[in-house]
Amino acid sequence: MTQTTARRRSDLGWPVRTVDGKTVAGRLSGLGWPQPGGGAPARNMTRQDGSRAAPATEPAVSAGRSGDAEGQITPMKDDGLDAADPSAVRIRKVMDDMVSRETVDQLSSPVPEFDVSRETFMDTPIAAEAARAVRVLNPSGNAFPRPPHRRVITVANQKGGVGKTTSTVNLAVALAMHGSRVLVIDLDPQGNASTGLGVDHRSGVPSVYEVLLGEHALADIAVAVEAAPALWCAPATIDLAGAEIELVSVVARESRLRRAIAAYAEQVDYVFIDCPPSLGLLTVNALVAADEVLIPIQCEYYALEGLGQLLRNIELVQAHLNNGVRISTILLTMYDGRTRLADQVAQEVRGHFGDLVLESVVPRSVRVSEAPGYGQSVLTYDPGSRGAITYLEAAREMAQRGAAGTPAEQHLAMQRNTEGGA
Ligand SMILES: Nc1ncnc2c1ncn2[C@@H]1O[C@H](COP(=O)(O)OP(=O)(O)OP(=O)(O)O)[C@@H](O)[C@H]1O
Ligand SMILES: [Mg+2]
Repeated sequence: MTQTTARRRSDLGWPVRTVDGKTVAGRLSGLGWPQPGGGAPARNMTRQDGSRAAPATEPAVSAGRSGDAEGQITPMKDDGLDAADPSAVRIRKVMDDMVSRETVDQLSSPVPEFDVSRETFMDTPIAAEAARAVRVLNPSGNAFPRPPHRRVITVANQKGGVGKTTSTVNLAVALAMHGSRVLVIDLDPQGNASTGLGVDHRSGVPSVYEVLLGEHALADIAVAVEAAPALWCAPATIDLAGAEIELVSVVARESRLRRAIAAYAEQVDYVFIDCPPSLGLLTVNALVAADEVLIPIQCEYYALEGLGQLLRNIELVQAHLNNGVRISTILLTMYDGRTRLADQVAQEVRGHFGDLVLESVVPRSVRVSEAPGYGQSVLTYDPGSRGAITYLEAAREMAQRGAAGTPAEQHLAMQRNTEGGA
């Protein structure tokens, strides 16, 4: 290898050399030996670095063959090198070494990256997961449509453990990752949404509790969340557990949160309110503050039991406290495709709520349940997972539906169209 100035690696035919500024090639031992005819003797050849070089005697042709004037292929003549010449023997040895080393190099070199292998790679589960992760993390900055007005969405279901907090956190992160500005209000003394967003909610931290009591503005207690550039969280501490009782004697106790949100000057597209599993004063505050209600429904046997009571409460709030609130979204959660029960529940919910039910159905997934343990959404914890991509798609559906305005605005627009047409 050290004896050549340049050579082709693609075949074993001819080591390419530069002689007097021209590129020439010599045959390798065993595959043809450098031709003596017309070339300077090997011992007279000097490389650029001054060392002796192997002879280069012919213009480059393919190994063992040469082309004639008409372009026909003719067999190569024997080299006729003097085997007794010690320098020729030395040169032959060097060339032999070079061939064997080159052969080893080629055999041991990694498999070249042909297009075919790349296509095959793209078909692998890992590649598919990587592609999903890119979609979720949105490195290209593709944005979902933003709503014409701030959307205040209460996530409620008095049944416990149906995915209220998980859905709040993941939808908020998905929307914020795709160009929207989002505030999450944790209205549950358990503080799970704060945990899921990695926000401190130890007792004593300024929280929603002080906001409801009028001691702090929402802007004072909302903290930026790392997961996305324009995402904030108003944390809940255990102090909030006492608020239900403390608020009883306070003026306009049902609309404390509504007032706080109205005074929040930060330009956000979405405010998500994560409710506790009850229909007490905290949930009533959330319903009074909202334009929309999102109800997560777990694909399990008792999913629909108790839902009637939530619907009646929403009607009561509509009738007396907040005429504008509507159920805008039903999200099916913890769907287990292996059970027929999950399908039956999903069908029943779709039959009852029709278009309000999002197409995206959140699967039961270990990754979704692991993420809060790391203070993360599943979108940042495992962006290539099915749970992440489903929450992303659910957020996209919500964004697209909301681009036309709030449910109340859509309702009004429909009414106007009907009256105009009549
Ligand atoms: N898609 C899912 N797959 C697997 N586990 C899930 C999924 N969604 C939520 N969980 C887990 O189920 C549990 C309940 O979820 P979550 O806390 O979101 O419900 P919740 O309705 O907010 O509960 P609570 O009524 O107590 O506030 C949590 O441990 C959560 O990690
Ligand atoms: Mg919760």
